[in-house]
Amino acid sequence: MSGAPASLAARVVRWQRSHGRSHLPWQNTRDPYRVWLSEIMLQQTQVSTVIGYFERFLARFPDVGALAAAGQDDVLGLWSGLGYYSRARNLHRCAQEVVERFGGEFPRTAEQLQTLPGIGRSTAAAVASFCFGERVAILDGNVKRVLARALGFGGDLASSANEKKLWNEATALLPADEADMPAYTQGLMDLGATVCLPRKPACLLCPLQDICAAVREGQPEKYPVKTRKLKRTAQSLWLLWAGTKDGAVWLHKRPSTGIWAGLYCLPVFDSHESLASAVPAPQRDNAVDLPVFTHVLTHKDLHIHPVQIQLPANEKLQAEGAWVEAARWPQLGLPAPVRKLLGG
Ligand code: ADE
Ligand code: SF4
Repeated sequence: MSGAPASLAARVVRWQRSHGRSHLPWQNTRDPYRVWLSEIMLQQTQVSTVIGYFERFLARFPDVGALAAAGQDDVLGLWSGLGYYSRARNLHRCAQEVVERFGGEFPRTAEQLQTLPGIGRSTAAAVASFCFGERVAILDGNVKRVLARALGFGGDLASSANEKKLWNEATALLPADEADMPAYTQGLMDLGATVCLPRKPACLLCPLQDICAAVREGQPEKYPVKTRKLKRTAQSLWLLWAGTKDGAVWLHKRPSTGIWAGLYCLPVFDSHESLASAVPAPQRDNAVDLPVFTHVLTHKDLHIHPVQIQLPANEKLQAEGAWVEAARWPQLGLPAPVRKLLGG
């Protein structure tokens, strides 16, 4: 392995400047707030979805101070639909730490950026290289694929020792000139997202084709090697959808840890019986079982059993929460499956 072709960085930089993406809303800026915000949003969400969220966030919170000063519900509400809400909670805490620890200016090195909530090694390097030209390597999922193929890196990335080796390779490949860092970093991302695809990479269009070890071996899709399979589990839960005839819905704010932390949610139960006991006895027979649906989380399939009931607004459930008016609940941060159910 290795024998890292010396021309790799120059090829990536040249290709990025002529063929890479250059008009995304977070490009053509060195403002670390914008770059950081986009990188966090892009971690688990595709570009086409991120664009609208990014612009709404910037309009509402134009700088890190504005985001730090916002209430958590406003931040989660604006994030609603992007999923992986720990990103939003970390985003908010990160903004607050930038204000408290760094006087409202993002630190300028990957090493310091990594000390902030939600900023891992690769995200720190993306911000530092885009905004400050620091010579530090990124290695997100897409870039692991590009580099593992180009280098013919056959180590199993399930092992942290191999992952460390690939980080070292990535660092050794960096361009010598700081001025090339933004194009290099973006170029690796663009190759991973548009050319070196997981299946059927477009090697004929790739600037690394002539030096790519995986192409030479004839089977680029063999890389990257990663054996560990996610252990998926399944869980059933019952959601009580209580509404009034005026369209108010009974919601409560979830605790700050666990599933859907900090979001507003219909009351959740682990059985039909415990759900029924939360409904005032005289109304129980009016509850309607809706079709079960499955919501897929990273490590778990949730089988959701919704139960709907209409109640007079002067009734209360025997469950935490309160009536939230029809005009207000659509603005709250709601778990995606709950929003889908409510049609908000
Ligand atoms: N994914 C992660 N970072 C990105 C960026 N800067 N541009 C496009 N896609 C990305
Ligand atoms: Fe990926 Fe093919 Fe380019 Fe190699 S030549 S880096 S396999 S797209």
